[in-house]
Amino acid sequence: MGTADDNLDAYPVANSADIAKQVPVIDIAAVVQDASSADARNAVDKIAAACRDWGFFQVLNHGVSSQLVQETWSQTRAFFTQPTAVKEQSLRTRENPWGYYNNELTKNQRDKKEVFDYTTDGPDPIYQAENRWPEMSPEFATTMRAYRDACTDLGLSLLEAFCAGLDLPADYMRSDFARYHTGFIRLNYYPVKDPMGASTIEHLAVADLGIHHHTDAGALTVLLQDDVGGLQVFKDGFWHNVAPIEDALVINTGDMMQVWSNDFYQAAVHRVLAMETRDRFSIPFFFNPSATTTVDPLPTVVSDSRPARYRTIPWCDFRGQRTDGDYADYGPEVQISQFKIAAS
Ligand code: OGA
Ligand code: NI
Repeated sequence: MGTADDNLDAYPVANSADIAKQVPVIDIAAVVQDASSADARNAVDKIAAACRDWGFFQVLNHGVSSQLVQETWSQTRAFFTQPTAVKEQSLRTRENPWGYYNNELTKNQRDKKEVFDYTTDGPDPIYQAENRWPEMSPEFATTMRAYRDACTDLGLSLLEAFCAGLDLPADYMRSDFARYHTGFIRLNYYPVKDPMGASTIEHLAVADLGIHHHTDAGALTVLLQDDVGGLQVFKDGFWHNVAPIEDALVINTGDMMQVWSNDFYQAAVHRVLAMETRDRFSIPFFFNPSATTTVDPLPTVVSDSRPARYRTIPWCDFRGQRTDGDYADYGPEVQISQFKIAAS
């Protein structure tokens, strides 16, 4: 990210009472059934508009069962309430990014949170590494796998809507995702108390946000948040609260979707405030293409009057570099702006 947006945190928070300035809430029952159907068209149009205007929206009737959601919350809480030494038995390493971590960096600043990441089963296609399931009850892994699979189904439906919204056949992107996607789930725990305590290393001492502002790297994110709040999206000079809604999931587009759509869809900048009174939990599913996918602006969004704005991005390299940057400070993070073709 260039220096232009380094001051974003200085912008004000919008007045949440103004309905026109709220992240759209969309009933997607028809999309989950069949995104290419006539019934789904209204929701597809709303999704496309939300992707253009906000890069963020909330969905209702998304098909992920509330019982599975409740089980996922209770296993998440059970994991994070264990003693640190126990959680650190599943500590991630540079070679294997799956497992527990409490010193995540966004834009090389430390976030005030703990995470547990897991992905598909078997060695993943980028790191050739296996999930590190903690030695708790076997229900933890069973529940987490079921939740991951439910999010994958929803992600595929949303991709169909995104494609339909760009006048492409709904299944246009399916082959880049369906079997060998590199998506993963992150369990986020934002404690009121700083997990690292005071640090003497200067840039590591800063933990004034739950997550510093960023865009998600992949195609789209499906986020489950609890009722605490604190997630904010940046739009038109203001930070907008993404208010928790019961039974809703929050969807946002990532960097690769912005490239595919040739900037029609925005990868929205978002952040999470530091918790001051209550601990917060959230669970994003980052839906990412297969390791062999190369990302270019799609045919329907490239024309003589709007040529491709990006060079080809090999997803595998992009993702690998972003993960390294999250783990430790290896210099500036990779951003899609580095692939931008200068306007002639
Ligand atoms: C993330 C993220 C938002 C949240 O993990 O990338 O933006 O509400 N999380 O926790
Ligand atoms: Ni994010």
